[in-house]
Amino acid sequence: MNLDTYPLNQLAARVGTPFFLLDAEILRGNLRRLNALAAGPRVVARYAMKANSVRQVLELVCEAGLWIDAVSGNEVLRAMRAGFPGGTEPPRIMLTADVFRDNALDVLQQHHILPNLGSPGMIRQLAATGYYGPVAVRANPGFGHGHVQACDTGGPSSKHGVWHEDLEQLRQTAAAAGLTIVALHAHIGTGPEPREFDQNMRKLVDFFEAILPGFPDASAVNFGGGIPHPYRPDQPAYDLSWYRPVLEDAVVRLARAAGRPIRVEIEPGRYAVAGMAALVCRVHDIKTTRANAKGPGYRFVMVDAGFCDLVRPAMYGAYHHISVVGAGASRTPEPLVVAGPLCESGDVFTRDENELLVPRLLPRPEPGDLLVLHDAGAYGSAMSSNYVSLGRVPQVMWDAGRATLISRRENLDDVVRAECEEPLV
Ligand SMILES: Cc1ncc(COP(=O)(O)O)c(C=O)c1O
Repeated sequence: MNLDTYPLNQLAARVGTPFFLLDAEILRGNLRRLNALAAGPRVVARYAMKANSVRQVLELVCEAGLWIDAVSGNEVLRAMRAGFPGGTEPPRIMLTADVFRDNALDVLQQHHILPNLGSPGMIRQLAATGYYGPVAVRANPGFGHGHVQACDTGGPSSKHGVWHEDLEQLRQTAAAAGLTIVALHAHIGTGPEPREFDQNMRKLVDFFEAILPGFPDASAVNFGGGIPHPYRPDQPAYDLSWYRPVLEDAVVRLARAAGRPIRVEIEPGRYAVAGMAALVCRVHDIKTTRANAKGPGYRFVMVDAGFCDLVRPAMYGAYHHISVVGAGASRTPEPLVVAGPLCESGDVFTRDENELLVPRLLPRPEPGDLLVLHDAGAYGSAMSSNYVSLGRVPQVMWDAGRATLISRRENLDDVVRAECEEPLV
């Protein structure tokens, strides 16, 4: 996002800080690129809505013609509110889960949503509800690598999917329960190196090619999400032309292995939305600690956003690029630690995955300046919480020179809305 495009101070004055700023045109561009990647009759792109599920984002995704990967009953309902139809012919919405929770089973029955089963026992649970429809199965192919160590999406230590050597047993259990496996799925993640992604996807094509003959009713294979996003300014953007041949190859080889046409699906989340939003916060203070026997001193920039708004740095040590806007912006960069308001020592935006502070070279801001955390569109607002009762922050959509508030700041009533006092036993 080019910050010169937006009247940041004016917006901050209107909605207060912190707030998420989303740019609709950047999202449309990413969706166009995904559509080009999935061009042709046999490739379908879903949007993994867990990355950002605010209604206006889903509406733009719907308008662009992508399908949806949802991971909860409520995500399915939010997708439907944004215009996506239910039904399994075709399955415009798929519900991927490792555990059916809350209304998931009801929602998928009521709206005829294709369930994507990530654990063998889910067959039993589905059958117990009287479900006789089609299912997809998420496999753990035994390999895979998330963008950071904490995101382990394939292999013995991953909780996701059905272990590949147990798929035949699962097929038999499904058949006995009257469930037809119409799609096979795997999501094995990005990998820390850009080219690791398409190498892993090639391995997935080999994997599905080998197992597909054992699934005579499968008409689709889904390669999951995980297309990399360049969070660091010196990181090159992932070139989708590296991925397209993998998908073209998959269409041909999977159809040959199955002896019938196979729809090849992808379901990126981050790629579509990471770069279309920033978290804008205000600098409240600058303070220093001094070196002593315990270690060196640091200069802390205290801002009003915390991990309740953007948890990725605290959770995975994820990198978000930072800009200073205001009086301090033109100063010579110096090593600074950017920290938030929460009473948690991990409430720091400049740290690594070992929970160590990594001071960032930044111009020293003045209290009152704005500070922008870039690339916050994926797993930003979607993972935000109302920890310490601050309430979730507003979201502003910028589109063709106009700013619209698409989600207001939560207030105390929002925070306590679910509290009650109902006698139970
Ligand atoms: C099943 C599934 N599909 C797709 C995605 C989207 O991944 P990404 O946002 O990295 O593209 C995820 C992310 O966790 C996932 O679990």
